[in-house]
Amino acid sequence: MNILVTGAAGYIGSHTCRQLIESGHQVTGYDNLSRGHQEAFDRASAGGKLVIGDLANTPLLVRSLRENEIQAVVHFAAFGLVGESVEHPELYRQNNVEGSRSLLQAMLEANVKRLVVSSTTAIYGEPSQMPISEDNPAAPINPYGQSKWEVEQMLVNAQEQHGLGFTALRYFNAAGASLDGLLGEDHEPETHLIPIVLQVALGQRDRISIFGDDYSTPDGTCVRDYVHVLDLASAHVRALERLQPGELLQVNLGSGIGTSVQEIVEQARRVTGHPIPADIVPRRPGDPPCLIANNQLAKSELGWQPVHSDITTILSTAWDWHHRHPRGYTP
Ligand code: UFG
Repeated sequence: MNILVTGAAGYIGSHTCRQLIESGHQVTGYDNLSRGHQEAFDRASAGGKLVIGDLANTPLLVRSLRENEIQAVVHFAAFGLVGESVEHPELYRQNNVEGSRSLLQAMLEANVKRLVVSSTTAIYGEPSQMPISEDNPAAPINPYGQSKWEVEQMLVNAQEQHGLGFTALRYFNAAGASLDGLLGEDHEPETHLIPIVLQVALGQRDRISIFGDDYSTPDGTCVRDYVHVLDLASAHVRALERLQPGELLQVNLGSGIGTSVQEIVEQARRVTGHPIPADIVPRRPGDPPCLIANNQLAKSELGWQPVHSDITTILSTAWDWHHRHPRGYTP
């Protein structure tokens, strides 16, 4: 298929472009490079076509869809930081919600009826049910989760009214890097646990601050479901290849295994061989104690299996990436 990938220069986007191309698809990237890296897309696509444009630019989206005879879209382009969304909710409304509306409008204009879209565990808020299945009610507790939930609802309407086919993939904690060390995570500022822990191992930071050890979890630190970026990428390829216009699927992507912050730090010490000093500091506002996916639907509907999402593979691939590229994609 001819596929347009928005956010193609981002972390999950670039890994997915690479797998789409390896599976024989023709990929056109679309990214405004506000947070992504041209280098990530170039490496992932071996010099493929990247349109540098904003989601708000509907005419450019329509032109990109038509000129490249696009049959399906994979939509990653979005802001994804909970803390930032609390400070600047308008950014999340504009970029995530209105940006997706512009993309949808362009797709309908160009008669493209297949869409795979990034969503998030943040739409569930603080779920009572654990592990979390898709029928857990959406109750986001921050503007980021709210923005992604609004996008899903917008797409449900488009499915009903215009026969759009879409799959929303609700990621748990994306982590890890490509097995050959070519692609990895490079955010500025970095706020995610695993890259920060590895930056301590590299000597780029002095210590890791563990946000709270008084949660109602086995060791008192927050439990998360870490899923390897390669497993996320393979789910997109599967979702895309089975998707038909008019179909709707909303599915969790997680490993189904919970790992605490304390366990991540200990495992990172083992994998890197560095001591990684850690301090317990107060809780970070808005962190739910525990988020673990029920991933049965992804297995049954997509035929998906997480194969790289054990903590050792996640940490060792991420460590290889950070070690080889201490400044990320910056030369
Ligand atoms: N943490 C620390 N110290 C740090 C950074 C993180 O203790 O320096 C802890 C956090 O408190 C949390 C865990 O490590 O318990 C993981 O934190 P991340 O920031 O790596 O990831 P989040 O779980 O906050 O974020 C993920 C996804 C978001 C999603 C969110 C929903 O990345 O997209 O879950 O809660 F919105």
